[in-house]
Formats: sequence, structure tokens, C-alpha cells
Amino acid sequence: MAVLPIVRMGNPVLRRVADPIPVPTAGGFDDGLRQLAADMVDTMFDAPGIGLAAPQIDISRRIIVFRVPPERATGDQGDAAMGPQVLINPEFVPVGAETVLGWEGCLSIPGLRGVVPRYRRIRYRGYDLDGNLVEREAANTHARVIQHELDHLDAVLYLDRMESLATLTYMEEQKFFGPDALQQRS
Ligand code: NI
Repeated sequence: MAVLPIVRMGNPVLRRVADPIPVPTAGGFDDGLRQLAADMVDTMFDAPGIGLAAPQIDISRRIIVFRVPPERATGDQGDAAMGPQVLINPEFVPVGAETVLGWEGCLSIPGLRGVVPRYRRIRYRGYDLDGNLVEREAANTHARVIQHELDHLDAVLYLDRMESLATLTYMEEQKFFGPDALQQRS
């Protein structure tokens, strides 16, 4: 187990578009990438968070890890609880135009939360560590964490997506927004 240091907002790596990872024709990704993915999962759980993108550990490559904790899964189609997942070179398209507002935090912006619009439903794909193409449809929490992490690969932070900074809130003050305020960091 290796917990890696997480860089914070202001570090230029978070504003650099991450590089694609060459996909092997057979046999899956090499041991170095498998170790990186394992360390990212350890780091995500240690933080604790529900997602982590490689730029957040100062590696400008297109790999993310995420999970959908049971208490955050809405049970809608595409939003079941999921254990830790690894996606390499991920991409997504919206399914429908519907967007929803939800609270987000970011391990690279500790202590803060804000309300961010995201597509409710998306279809995404990426490679797993064995080199298999994974394609899924996701909604709600699952869709939100994917959109947040993919933004990291494209040098975008959730603050850039906020329609208003009026909800930008220190966690300790979030009680003023009521019981619906979500706890999510990624
Ligand atoms: Ni983040």
C-alpha cells in the first residue's frame, strides 16, 4: 500500500491537459501502470474521497480511479454502488441534455464545497488494466464523479463549472445549507 501526496490547486499540473496512455495490443497494461493504479486507489480511500485523477498526484497521464459508495448510490439505473474502479483514457458523452445541480468537493481544494451542474446521465468508456474496453451508462452520483474526474484530465476544476460562487462553502459551515448537502470529494 502506498498513499501518494495529493497536489492542491495552484500546482500547474492541475492546469495541464494530461497525456493519453498508449494501449497495449495484448496482455494488458504494464506493471508500472498497475502499481500506479493500486496506489491511486489507496490514496483515494486514505483521503478519503470517491475519485482521484492522476494529475492530482502530479502525474499528467489519462488515468482515473473512482467508486460509488453505497450511501451515495441513488439506485437509479446507472447509479448502483461500485467498489474501486480504474479507467484509462476515459471519455464520455451526455445522454440527453438534462443537467442537475449537486454538491462537490475536490481533494485538491481541501475544505471547500460548491454546487456544480452536471449531466444527469452519460455514457462513458475507457480501458481497464487488462486492456479491455469498458463501456457503461451512468447516472447521478456515478455520472457526476466521472465528469469531475475527466475534467481533471482536461485541466478543469469544479470551480470553473460553478454557475455562481455564492454556494462556495467551507465544509464546517455547510450545515447552513441543510441536510441535503452532500459529502463528496474527488
Ligand atoms: Ni477533484
